[in-house]
Amino acid sequence: MKFYYRCTDCGTEYPGDQIRYLCAQCEQVAGEFQKGVLETVFDPEYLASLKTKPTVKSEDFLVYRLPNSAAYPVGNTPLIAPEKLRRQFGLPNLFLKNDGANPSGSLKDRASALVAAQALYHNEKTVVLASTGNAGSAMACAGAALGLKVILFVPATAPKAKLMQSVLYGATVIPIRGTYDDAFKLSIEYTQKFGGINRNTAYNPLTIEGKKTVSIEIFHQLGRNTPDVIFVPVGDGVIYAGVYKGFADLKAAGLIEKIPQIVGVQSTGSNAIARAFQTGKMLAIKKATTTADSIAVASPANGRMAIKFMRACQGWATEVSDAEISQAQVQLCKESGVFVEPAAAAAWAGFLKDRNKLDPSRKIVVLLTGLGFKDLAAVEKAIVIPKAVEPDLDAVN
Ligand SMILES: Cc1ncc(COP(=O)(O)O)c(C=O)c1O
Repeated sequence: MKFYYRCTDCGTEYPGDQIRYLCAQCEQVAGEFQKGVLETVFDPEYLASLKTKPTVKSEDFLVYRLPNSAAYPVGNTPLIAPEKLRRQFGLPNLFLKNDGANPSGSLKDRASALVAAQALYHNEKTVVLASTGNAGSAMACAGAALGLKVILFVPATAPKAKLMQSVLYGATVIPIRGTYDDAFKLSIEYTQKFGGINRNTAYNPLTIEGKKTVSIEIFHQLGRNTPDVIFVPVGDGVIYAGVYKGFADLKAAGLIEKIPQIVGVQSTGSNAIARAFQTGKMLAIKKATTTADSIAVASPANGRMAIKFMRACQGWATEVSDAEISQAQVQLCKESGVFVEPAAAAAWAGFLKDRNKLDPSRKIVVLLTGLGFKDLAAVEKAIVIPKAVEPDLDAVN
């Protein structure tokens, strides 16, 4: 399919038949959000042709054909209509998109599937990346299913379950005594020296592109319709941009009229994008401190694009505390039966914070991006496992 890459900062265009990373024209300024993230632009005639197609699938919007989906079934995650929560909040059109139901347990599988497709198309056998956890386990899972070698640089402090997943899937896992930024830099040096495709988030533009399938699925699950508002947890801003891009492509194809308002939810301890949205200054924060490890980002790799899209869809940024995230995580479990990791619970906490702003007739989707089992340590403080008793009824009563 015909497509090209365009720099979201300076507009430089690059051909789609090459593997491209950041824009070569954009210089980075220390302390500011990264510049030069590329977006994927389709041939407008191709997009327009989708309007009259009897059935439009997510794959129709992707730049590479996804690898064997029977061997590696990514996406088609449930859109839950949470009965108790709907009643509790008087919101009959509230939905939870449970992307923890992906093969490795997070939305990151969508991006890994597209990068795997890119690797197979270009006959590359190795994918290299740095990750705080989920992107790594997602890529390792794709590699295991599709026969790609995965080399993963990860801060040694990443949650154990995410590291264990990556090792179990057979990736070469290299824990770094340092930060995610150190791992990021090292992974790029490694790719430059030894080859392979680099899948770092936002650095490889297909990480944004792959995530947009979640929006196209929501469109189908709502009967070829869009929600009015979507709550999305935000760290680097790649998921946010992917969600926007999915609806933007549907709009460009003439299949929807309006892009929903997308709310970016951050932790108060990791609020670089929320701050930049308020101040207009694209500045990294000194240190990200939140228990929601997947959204702990001081210098967001896709902050500029996320903010541009936030303005374009009349969305907004909401901040929640770690305590609110923890309460939201427990509430979601108890009231809807969905167990998510803290980063995903942040989206629910953001909804709780903003719900009074929302017209009750609106269609609201809360995007739950990862499974709770990925970080059991995070819930240990919030619950008490009852003490064991003797196996007789007197002890139970
Ligand atoms: C479960 C989960 N939720 C949310 C995010 C935040 O996504 P982004 O960094 O693209 O903003 C991540 C990223 O790692 C994640 O793994």
